Amino acid sequence: MGSYEEIFRSSVEDREGFWLGAADAVDWTTPPTTALDETNPPFYRWFPDGELNVSYNALDRHVEAGNGDRAALIYDSPVTDTKRTYSYAQLRDEVAAFAGVLRDLGVGVGDRVVIYMPMVPEAAIAMLACARLGAVHSVVFGGFAAKELAVRIDDATPTVIVSASCGIEGKRVIEYKPLLDEAIGLATHKPDTQVILQRPQAQAAMGGNDVDWASAVADASPADPVAVKATDPLYILYTSGTTGKPKGVVRDCGGYAVALAWSMPNVYDVGPGQTIFTASDVGWVVGHSYIVYAPLLVGATTVLYEGKPVGTPDAGQFWRVMSEYGVRSMFTAPTAFRALKKEDPHGEYAKRYDLSGLEYLFLAGERLDPETYRWASELLGIPVIDHWWQTETGWPIVADPAGIELLPIKPGSPTKPLPGWDIRILDGDGRPVPPGEDGAIVAKLPLPPGAFPTLWNDDERFLSSYMSAFEGYYLTGDGGRIDSDGYVFVMGRTDDVINVAGHRLSTGGMEEVLASHPDVAECAVIGVADAMKGQVPRGFVVLKAGIDASAEGYEDALRAELVAMVRNQVGAVASLKEVAIVGGLPKTRSGKILRKTMRGIADGTDEAVPSTIDDASVLDTLRPVLRKE
Ligand code: COA
Ligand code: AMP
Repeated sequence: MGSYEEIFRSSVEDREGFWLGAADAVDWTTPPTTALDETNPPFYRWFPDGELNVSYNALDRHVEAGNGDRAALIYDSPVTDTKRTYSYAQLRDEVAAFAGVLRDLGVGVGDRVVIYMPMVPEAAIAMLACARLGAVHSVVFGGFAAKELAVRIDDATPTVIVSASCGIEGKRVIEYKPLLDEAIGLATHKPDTQVILQRPQAQAAMGGNDVDWASAVADASPADPVAVKATDPLYILYTSGTTGKPKGVVRDCGGYAVALAWSMPNVYDVGPGQTIFTASDVGWVVGHSYIVYAPLLVGATTVLYEGKPVGTPDAGQFWRVMSEYGVRSMFTAPTAFRALKKEDPHGEYAKRYDLSGLEYLFLAGERLDPETYRWASELLGIPVIDHWWQTETGWPIVADPAGIELLPIKPGSPTKPLPGWDIRILDGDGRPVPPGEDGAIVAKLPLPPGAFPTLWNDDERFLSSYMSAFEGYYLTGDGGRIDSDGYVFVMGRTDDVINVAGHRLSTGGMEEVLASHPDVAECAVIGVADAMKGQVPRGFVVLKAGIDASAEGYEDALRAELVAMVRNQVGAVASLKEVAIVGGLPKTRSGKILRKTMRGIADGTDEAVPSTIDDASVLDTLRPVLRKE
């Protein structure tokens, strides 16, 4: 192996050779002879003549190599007081059995299956069972409300939905089945069948199209892996864009498997028999890639943890898990560490556990603030590695490649581009900016394997959202800079996407909900800085003319109603707790709401009034509300 610089250079100078070499880490039923199909840019396709099965690669091949007894997945759930370890052989058998259930329900190659589940092993089993059949899963995060689930059902048009009777949030049991039933009621598309995992904490009432997970599995005969084209979709993962309609990020099979298999030893420094603990949720890309697929593809052990870092039962659970299972690399979002720091500022819980096996802490999903970086580094005394990526990219764009060599850390930078990522900083006219200056972060096309080939059923939006701002470049939606040492700094989104506790949300989607209230004339939602969650949304509404807001209790009732509407229609995860009723919103002369200006004033980072403002007095009136004076 070489240095980071050598490896990165070889990925640029011999792109095809580099990725065909990386493809050797995967077992193919038909090995690819061509790395990249470039005939229809920007719709690039990796390994166009290769065929494989991702579930076979994640499970069967390790069993066939004699490693069936090795731990594949450890389920650790302090909220239900459960611990369960699946060996590779056991997980393969469970996945094959559930694939048999899906097959008997009519699921075949290319059919969609929506998975709406809490953090239980059956969520991973359902994902891998789809992959086994060549079906396309679409996991929807459990914190989204019925309406959001319905939108995804209508877009993905699944044959089957897999769900559970409930999820557990701290001490609260959240029933999923009523949400699922409501979503199916709202959706135009009706799935043929729902498979429901009954959990002991709540029994779901079963309807005519509902099938009980346990009985179905008991009756099923196992299904074998089905080889599919490398370019076939493995999953759709919806993510927030600037409007309320989520984007269905498509992931292919071959490129993704190759990229993930490359990233495990080279970025996360985790190999066969070693353990990674990714504290996220299978509903997010981090969960797809580094709880489920990547660790299993390389024969490592993955921890699937159900619970929060703090709360039930205490703030020691992450440390317990790391010590109990000999975790080598831990991966989570900075917000989880901010929660730990708040609860246990001196790290007393961490001192109770033997963390000698822990080599690295990886953080991503939002900006890593220097204070959290410092706290985690001092507490653990190991490299704390910030890295930057997105749902669209499937694996890290920029990281400190710990498995190759540890580059010196500069706090505030996720470090340098990984192989295949040709990252540039452009100004508004598409010109490169000098080192150290801010601009739009873009990636020169083609993107490497693992990145999304398109949006589900929406090539047009793929082009308009990502590929048309600067010809030949992917627009990441993040702004930032590259310094003279080649370190990338990611400063934040340049669009209306916000990051709340590491969860990507659309302010546009929340605005659509607020605007639907009959008393609201117009509104704005902005993401403001929050010490714990990084950002939280704040809403501002202007009432329709003629609404009498002076009636006793009217304003309080309206605010509560608007907060409840967002919670019920987007989901609890939106975390919109504050809505202010205001006289007007600042706009440009062409009528565009000045959200960025509002954000700058609310955060106290930028008080400047843009020259394009239509009526500065509106902003003057709003300023104390924004500053909460
Ligand atoms: N099902 C139902 N409700 C859910 C949910 C789920 N899967 N996930 C979250 N929610 C609810 C929460 O219970 C909370 O409800 P509340 O307003 O009634 O308290 C709300 O959605 C907001 O959730 P969250 O933003 O996660 O806040 P929290 O206070 O519950 O937890 C953290 C905060 C920081 C501890 C938690 O977000 C965390 O551990 N995050 C880091 C890991 C991570 O998930 N990263 C994402 C990608 S890497
Ligand atoms: P998601 O698609 O949910 O993974 O969110 C992706 C977005 O999260 C990115 O576009 C960034 O805005 C933000 N993000 C992720 N990782 C980082 C990081 N290490 N530093 C700064 N922002 C990040």
